[in-house]
Amino acid sequence: MNLLIVNANEVITMANEIDGPRKKEAMKEIGVQQHVSVLVVEGRVAGVAPLEELRAEFPHLIDNATLIDASGQVVMPGLVDCHTHLVHEGTREDEFHMCLEGREYMDILKAGGGIYTTMKKTQEAAFEELYEKAYMHLNQFLKHGVTTVETKSGYSLDWAGEKKQLEVAKALQAAHPIELAITFMGAHVIPAEYKGKEEVFVDELIQSMLPQVAEGQLAEFNDVFCGEGRFTPNQACRILEASRELGLTPKVHADAVTPYVGAELAVEVGAISASHLQYASKKGLEAMAKAEVTAVLLPGTAFFLRDSYVKARQIIDAGVPVAIATAFNPGSSPTVSLPLIQNIACFNMDMTMEEVLTATTINAAYAINRGREIGSLERGKRADILILDVENYKQIQYFYGVNHTNTVIKDGKVVVR
Ligand code: NIG
Repeated sequence: MNLLIVNANEVITMANEIDGPRKKEAMKEIGVQQHVSVLVVEGRVAGVAPLEELRAEFPHLIDNATLIDASGQVVMPGLVDCHTHLVHEGTREDEFHMCLEGREYMDILKAGGGIYTTMKKTQEAAFEELYEKAYMHLNQFLKHGVTTVETKSGYSLDWAGEKKQLEVAKALQAAHPIELAITFMGAHVIPAEYKGKEEVFVDELIQSMLPQVAEGQLAEFNDVFCGEGRFTPNQACRILEASRELGLTPKVHADAVTPYVGAELAVEVGAISASHLQYASKKGLEAMAKAEVTAVLLPGTAFFLRDSYVKARQIIDAGVPVAIATAFNPGSSPTVSLPLIQNIACFNMDMTMEEVLTATTINAAYAINRGREIGSLERGKRADILILDVENYKQIQYFYGVNHTNTVIKDGKVVVR
C-alpha cells in the first residue's frame, strides 16, 4: 500500500548531504520544510516535495496512494532508541523507594541487590515470561514514536540465560513491528561466583560464549561495561577484539562512574558507539571525534538516580557525534519514553531542540549501523514516520512531559493511529 501524507504544518526531514553521523553544526540542521507532502511507496520514502511536483513525477502512484491528512501537525522520522536493556525480568520499585528515602544505589548493589536481583530473576524466568514482558514494553515504545530499538543481553551472565535473552530478542524481531538491533552483553558485570577469578570469566566469554553468539547469529553487536569493579580496559579490549574477529561490531559502556580510558578504548577497538561518558577524558573525546565514534548519552540514568548529568555541550563541542537513548533497564532508567529523554536532555544537559531531534533519529541510527536506511526522511530510505500533535517542532519540547505521538508508520505501514 502506498501512502501520501499531506497538509502537515512542517515536515522535519533530518536530510543532509553528510554521509555519516552529524557533528556540532550539522546537529542543528534538521531540515524543516513547509508546504510539502510525503509519498511512501512499497515501504520506502519516494519523495518529500510539494504535491504538484510529486504528482508530476509519480502520477499513477499518487492516484493509488492512501491519503493521510496531517493538517495542523508535524511529520518527522520515527525515533530510534539506540541503547536499551529491553529483555529482563522483574521490577525494582522497592529499591527506588529506598533510594528516595536516602539509601544509595551503589550500597544496594554492594549488598547484593541491584543488578544481581535482576540477574537472578532473569536467569529463572521462562522464555515466554521474558517474551511477553518485552513485547508489552515494545508496544509502549511504539506508542511513544519509537520505531527501532537496540537491546542488550547481560542480565543473565551464564550462557543459558544469555542465550535465552538473545533468543527472546530474535523472536521479538520477527514478531513485533518495531525493528530490533541485538547486542550481546555477556560482559555487563562480573558474576558473583567469579569474584577473584575474573580472568576465568573473560576467557569463558571469549572462548565459549562469543563463538556461540556468532555461530547462532544471535547478535549484531557486542558491548562491554568497561569500568571500576566491572571490566578493566585490558579485559574489555580482549573481549571486543575477539568479538570483532567473529563479525560482531564493538560497543562500549565507557567512563560511566570514574575516568577509566573508556573513550580511548572505544576508538582503539573500532567501536561504533560509546555510551555514558560522564568521566571521559578530553583526549578520549578528541579521539572519538576523529574516529567518528558516536557518543550515546543517557539522560534518564542521571535523572532517575538523581546524579550529575554528562556534559553534553563539551562532547558536542569536541566534535563528537551525539545520540541520546533511554537506557531502558529496571535499575537506573525504567522508562520507555524517548520523548521524555529529549526533554531531560534539553532541560538538564543544555542540548538544543534541534540537537535532541538529531540525537534521537539520524545519529541514533548511525550508532546502530543503520544511518543509511533509517533516521531521516529521504528518497529511498525506509518509511519510518511519525505524525505528532504539535503545530511546529519547537512545541515538542515546549509542551514537555507529553507524548505528542498521533500516528506511527513503520516500513510504510500504519501501526499506531
Ligand atoms: O550496568 N546501562 C547499563 N546498565 C546498568 C544496569 C543498571 C541496573 O540494572 O541497576 C548498569 O549500571
